[in-house]
Amino acid sequence: MPELLTTTMHDETRQGEAYASFANDVQSYKKHFYIESYGCAMNFADSEVVASILIGNGFGATANYEEADLIFINTCSIREKAEATVRKRLTEFRQLKKQKPGMLVGVLGCMAERLKEKFIQEEKLVDIVVGPDAYRTLPGLIEEAETGQKAVNVLLSRDETYADIAPVRLNSNGVTAFVSIMRGCNNMCSFCVVPFTRGRERSRDAGSIINECKTLFEEGYKEVTLLGQNVDSYYWTASPNLSKGGAQEDPVSFAKLLEMVAQISPLLRVRFSTSHPKDITDDVLYTILKYDNICNYIHLPVQSGSSRVLQMMNRTYSREWYIAKVDRIRELIPDCGLSTDMITGFCTETEEDHQQSLSLMEYCKYDLAYMYFYSERPGTLAARRFEDDVPEEIKIKRLQEMIALHRIHSLQSMQRDVGKICKVLVEGTSKKSEEELYGRNDQNKVVVFPKDNHKKGDYVTLKIISCTAGTLRGIAS
Ligand code: SAM
Ligand code: SF4
Ligand code: F3S
Repeated sequence: MPELLTTTMHDETRQGEAYASFANDVQSYKKHFYIESYGCAMNFADSEVVASILIGNGFGATANYEEADLIFINTCSIREKAEATVRKRLTEFRQLKKQKPGMLVGVLGCMAERLKEKFIQEEKLVDIVVGPDAYRTLPGLIEEAETGQKAVNVLLSRDETYADIAPVRLNSNGVTAFVSIMRGCNNMCSFCVVPFTRGRERSRDAGSIINECKTLFEEGYKEVTLLGQNVDSYYWTASPNLSKGGAQEDPVSFAKLLEMVAQISPLLRVRFSTSHPKDITDDVLYTILKYDNICNYIHLPVQSGSSRVLQMMNRTYSREWYIAKVDRIRELIPDCGLSTDMITGFCTETEEDHQQSLSLMEYCKYDLAYMYFYSERPGTLAARRFEDDVPEEIKIKRLQEMIALHRIHSLQSMQRDVGKICKVLVEGTSKKSEEELYGRNDQNKVVVFPKDNHKKGDYVTLKIISCTAGTLRGIAS
């Protein structure tokens, strides 16, 4: 379990989590719904918005899909495999639907947006298809579907942020929570489907973010992760408040927002993800430095170590530029945890390009890396402009080499922590032993330690005494 937890922040391989935190015995609900989520943290956060909308409209939640009148699957399109997983799951729901006429199946999220009506043609027995910006219309769509119509709304919006909706925390440990600060992406990396499935970038009202974080803290949460595809380009300008003389308030940058969240309480830890290397500023780094409760950890995806490939990927930085950014982070915040995303076998990638990716990893020595082989996505810039010409076996061979190299770095990173003192926020009981708890340190590493009198939600100071590649082991210091 602890090993798994290191991947919870932005790993779109998370899949199929339902939840169990709601009463499902109350008879007064109109109907019961069940949501299963796939993809990145933003999709999981969206499922919490969907749950809030449905509960607000009289539906009850259930953690058991066999009891549900409405089954929703919140989907991911990032790679072909992610879509295949969803399709497989849908065939299982289809069987259930045959035995339970009247039960509705709805597809939400990025795959719904990508395939639109085609989904209903391709996947018979899907009744509702709703894109990421259309969740407010779900209650009406359910009514339509109940009358036998196929209900589809995949309109993308330029301003929907669901700012006023208080997410219903699903599968919550009661200690850590995701808070969505923006939606969409304007970057157009050539391999990526997200700009097409999530639409234009827009930032959420800063006041609503602060209120959500404050409420979480008052409810006992101790850590918030501010989420966006590109958090460093967060920018919010409030409309002038005419009742207060119409003065324009100062705009809120990401550095300012981080500061505002950090100031809620020194006992509320703040994380954020994802940072695009081109947008993270010194201001953000200085803000991390200034506040103890902002974790020293940056997820800074590079994707490739070859400037030529980076240019084809439309990442807008070179290898040298990225290295300079990493140097700056390490200069200002020497103990900063650093993680990345990598793609092997992108169009035209040569062995030499691949070696440059490995040497960049050697230079950066990431604490954590999410590595994938390139999967062409229909409609993306790369699919339209370039040939997917690296054979799959080569993509996979390069990926395996990369994973092997990263294993060495992550083990070295863990070993460097042995003997150090760190502060850990306790997230729960270790899966391996009732006598042990686990939590994460500032750098997002999982630490397991003896329970003693500690409990979930406590901050505990530990001395690290040993490690594996995925977990640190500590004792009270
Ligand atoms: N916004 C983030 C950024 O700029 O890095 C990441 C977004 S994406 C949800 C997460 C990761 O999936 C990417 O960083 C990339 O490594 C990977 N990815 C995206 N499209 C891919 C594709 N077509 N094939 C393989 N991996 C892909
Ligand atoms: Fe995709 Fe690039 Fe946007 Fe990240 S920054 S979501 S990789 S287009
Ligand atoms: Fe996330 Fe997958 Fe969509 S990674 S933004 S759920 S395509």
